[in-house]
Amino acid sequence: MWFVAVVLVVLNSLLAEQLPWWSNAVYYRILVDSFKDSDGDGLGDLQGTIKQLSYVRALGADAVILSPIVTKSTDCRTPGPVDFTDIDVRYGNADKFNALVEKAKKLELKLLVTLPLQTISLSSEVFNLSAERRPGYEDKLVWRNGKEDELPPDEEGVDKWIWHDGRAAYYGTANNEAILNLCSEAVIAMFSDVQCTWLKRGVVGVVVNPDYNIDYDCSVQLVKKMVIAAMGCARNTNMEPPVILVETSLGAEIGAKYYGGGSSGANSVISYALAAPTRRSSPNLALDLHAAMLYPPQDTAPTWTTSITNESRIATRYGNEMVDGILLLALTLPGAVLLHQGDELGAADTILEWAETTECWPTYAVASAAPFPWDDTPTAGFTSGQPWLPLATNYRYANAKTEYANEMSHVGVMRTAAAMRKSPAMGPHVEINRFGDALAILRWGGAGSLLVVINLGLGQTEVQLSKIPGLPQEMTIAASSGGSSLSPGSHVNLEKLIKMASGETVLLAGPPRHCGGPGPVDKITNKLSEGWQKLNKYFGNL
Ligand SMILES: *[C@@H]1O[C@H](CO)[C@@H](O)[C@H](O)[C@H]1NC(C)=O
Ligand SMILES: *[C@@H]1O[C@H](CO)[C@@H](O)[C@H](O)[C@H]1NC(C)=O
Repeated sequence: MWFVAVVLVVLNSLLAEQLPWWSNAVYYRILVDSFKDSDGDGLGDLQGTIKQLSYVRALGADAVILSPIVTKSTDCRTPGPVDFTDIDVRYGNADKFNALVEKAKKLELKLLVTLPLQTISLSSEVFNLSAERRPGYEDKLVWRNGKEDELPPDEEGVDKWIWHDGRAAYYGTANNEAILNLCSEAVIAMFSDVQCTWLKRGVVGVVVNPDYNIDYDCSVQLVKKMVIAAMGCARNTNMEPPVILVETSLGAEIGAKYYGGGSSGANSVISYALAAPTRRSSPNLALDLHAAMLYPPQDTAPTWTTSITNESRIATRYGNEMVDGILLLALTLPGAVLLHQGDELGAADTILEWAETTECWPTYAVASAAPFPWDDTPTAGFTSGQPWLPLATNYRYANAKTEYANEMSHVGVMRTAAAMRKSPAMGPHVEINRFGDALAILRWGGAGSLLVVINLGLGQTEVQLSKIPGLPQEMTIAASSGGSSLSPGSHVNLEKLIKMASGETVLLAGPPRHCGGPGPVDKITNKLSEGWQKLNKYFGNL
């Protein structure tokens, strides 16, 4: 049996009580379009979100991240945002937003908004003024000089160059939206103001994707400057320091730069390690988890997302048998968690017909945006009208009403894990062990030990957990994936071989790891990078 243990110590010098709330928060990402419709037009809205917000609280989440609700063009030939501070009337208005802020406060849920930074509609004022070379606007878009019949060379991130007669130059587009020039000081100033407007409305932070394929240095600078601006904005309005969460599809190395060394960078960067499009093998996932944990500065940790916006939900991309596993991993790893709306239920994607993807909605129609399944009625309790997208294929059994009453459901597993992560048993340290196809993630150093074991292989596998030094002889199952023979409450002798089916996952709880473990904490800290190198070498030799 293969057995690799690398010890990582994260958040080493901080006791759990001293950590800021966001460092281990459970975020719940609401796609407003698909959460709850209040007026029967088939599209989710702010009033619907207000109505159903207590569900998010009941899950054990600390904060809500709203999908973009800024004003978008209603002309689908020119899609994209037209104004970053106004609220799209299809979702509501400023009063509705205030009501949402109040409701969240009452439920003790923090609220963050997603600000789209990449593109703007061709029918926006910014586009017109930039085309006119109005001072302060001229470099807000990506312009390239040239001749009408001579396209500029291809650039990464630019789908298409379009000739503008007035300016006699080309502008870059992606998905028929004009690409914003994220290197431009005017754009940075614009987004700093936009961000401040939202903070003043009562959100505690923003989620941004600053990836700018044309020049990544500008992406890093943009984050740095927006963080400084957010601090300034908060100081002027006597707010708590805002949280800036960064989403990136550029991998851990660029992600590391977004942290800006810890002082003038993102609070956390969202990791896609658990959300890759295809199921991961155990060595692969172990490497990705370590990389994601090692790139941030000390005392900082990633935010593990269960799914990527626009990409398939867990149940569709990995199969229903992996839903509990991904939820348990996300909720046990050090750092914050971002639960993607519907993943806690194992909601699948829908199946889209071509006509549905070409209809005109404020958000792109993607299969994973299927309306939230509240119950098993014909519109899943989402709307009294015709839902903007067809329902998830499995909504008749994977819905909130059916699952919420059932402790053994995905939601039941998720809520147990969310409660465990708030318990004193959740120690500050993490250790990842690999047993063949299985991974075992141990949290230790607290008042107890918590251990998640997942079989990532396609067949059965066996683990002997006593090979992890210092563990108690016996641990108790706190939660297990659907169909597991290890039911909650049963005791497990760690000396015994545990047989696990494909995807099977268990969360074990027990007494603290004893001191014969891997040695004094401060020494281990210094071994962080050494451990990483060893692991790299180990897997390199496989
Ligand atoms: C932009 O310019 C076009 C053409 O000149 C005009 O029709 C449109 O109303 C302008 N849009 C805005 C938002 O200023
Ligand atoms: C989702 O996809 C659309 C179209 O492909 C794109 O314009 C949009 O930026 C994507 N959203 C996110 C959050 O990636």
